[in-house]
Amino acid sequence: MSDNDTLAEFDFHGKALDTIFDDYAQMHESKPVGHSSKYGGFWYISKSEDIFDAEQDPETWSVGPSMLLPSFGTDMPLIPIDIDPPTHAGFRKLLLPMFTPMAINKLEPGMHTTAIELSDQVKSAFEDRDVVDVSALFARPYPTIIFSRLAGYPEEDWPLFDQWIDDIIYERTKSPEKAKAAGDDLVAYVQRLIDDGRAGKALDGITGELLNATIDGRPLTDDELVSYGYLLFLAGLDTTAWAIRSSLWYLARNKEAQALLRREPDRIMDAAEEFLRTLSPVQAMARTAKQDTTVRGQEIKAGERVVLVFGAGNRDPEIYDNPNEIDITRENNRHLAFGGGIHRCLGSNLGRKEVVISLEHFLATIPEFELAEDEPWHGVGPLRLRLTGGE
Ligand code: HEM
Repeated sequence: MSDNDTLAEFDFHGKALDTIFDDYAQMHESKPVGHSSKYGGFWYISKSEDIFDAEQDPETWSVGPSMLLPSFGTDMPLIPIDIDPPTHAGFRKLLLPMFTPMAINKLEPGMHTTAIELSDQVKSAFEDRDVVDVSALFARPYPTIIFSRLAGYPEEDWPLFDQWIDDIIYERTKSPEKAKAAGDDLVAYVQRLIDDGRAGKALDGITGELLNATIDGRPLTDDELVSYGYLLFLAGLDTTAWAIRSSLWYLARNKEAQALLRREPDRIMDAAEEFLRTLSPVQAMARTAKQDTTVRGQEIKAGERVVLVFGAGNRDPEIYDNPNEIDITRENNRHLAFGGGIHRCLGSNLGRKEVVISLEHFLATIPEFELAEDEPWHGVGPLRLRLTGGE
């Protein structure tokens, strides 16, 4: 099969992620814009510049019917991510006060406490057994618990959230029915909270704020509130869990990097940025062409699906020296892990802080570790580690 034949079936989910960096190298070498037959057919765009341009041009590129390809276990457009201008701005604006650096700083003491508690649990687990799955014990619970606090959901329900997200995001390409069932459960859960709030129960966090918010002089409908809730679940949990897991995956294979970050924890911030660039939780997101257009000489017709491959843009040799090298001391690291234009991630301050704080406490608590099994770099599946007896 020639290079371009491989790219003709380019995929960015599941097992395809094992070898996706080879695909990106091929794209940058010979086919920066191309067509894949997967998921009903889509064009991919891989150059950083082209992705930023598309992000800035909602006149040409719609986020409808869904930024996700294939779409999630729901038919409703998710607010604000699946909404185009001019409606998008008002919906996004309602969330802004809850995501300012000041608002996120308020969560910080709890973020430290929880990271310390979970690191201690991992430490205790290593006292009982040789091999510990730190994805299950650390990378997944941490952002799920922090998100529950921000959203105003009961913290003890986090295992439920974790399971839904797993089914919706990771099972949807294998078992759409399972994803649909989890999506229905999630909708029912959020609806119950809204009903409680409308019946007079005080609700904390984002849920409470949105219940009292107005748009164009009217309160939000139940459907809109559910849609916000659904999107925040999808946007805020597995992304950060993936970022923490993939950072630990890298560190487990690189003892010098572990030692450097333990010795100089101030470097964790730059390291986290490099993990986000090279092992991005969101490798790609979809758009639909609103009109006939051309990207790098390739004609794309109105109505065709297009995928912005953030992961490829993040390894663009025109932007980064040694793009495929993970250099935890890299500086001025402007990447696409949080997207770019009007839909740029609202949770980037929070996501970044969660990765940095969790790594800080994990490295301060757990001595030198390595992979106990050969695990993939991607996803939020198991990450089984063992201690080496070093440091
Ligand atoms: C490391 C963690 C995270 C990564 C890598 C990430 C990545 C992304 C990406 C790629 C987008 C689409 C941007 C675009 O198309 O331009 C996005 C949108 C969004 N993210 Fe995140 N995200 C993370 C964490 C979070 C968290 C923790 C939250 C909230 C709890 C969050 C909330 C959102 C929202 C609300 C949007 C939609 C913004 C809009 O449509 O205007 N994200 N994120």
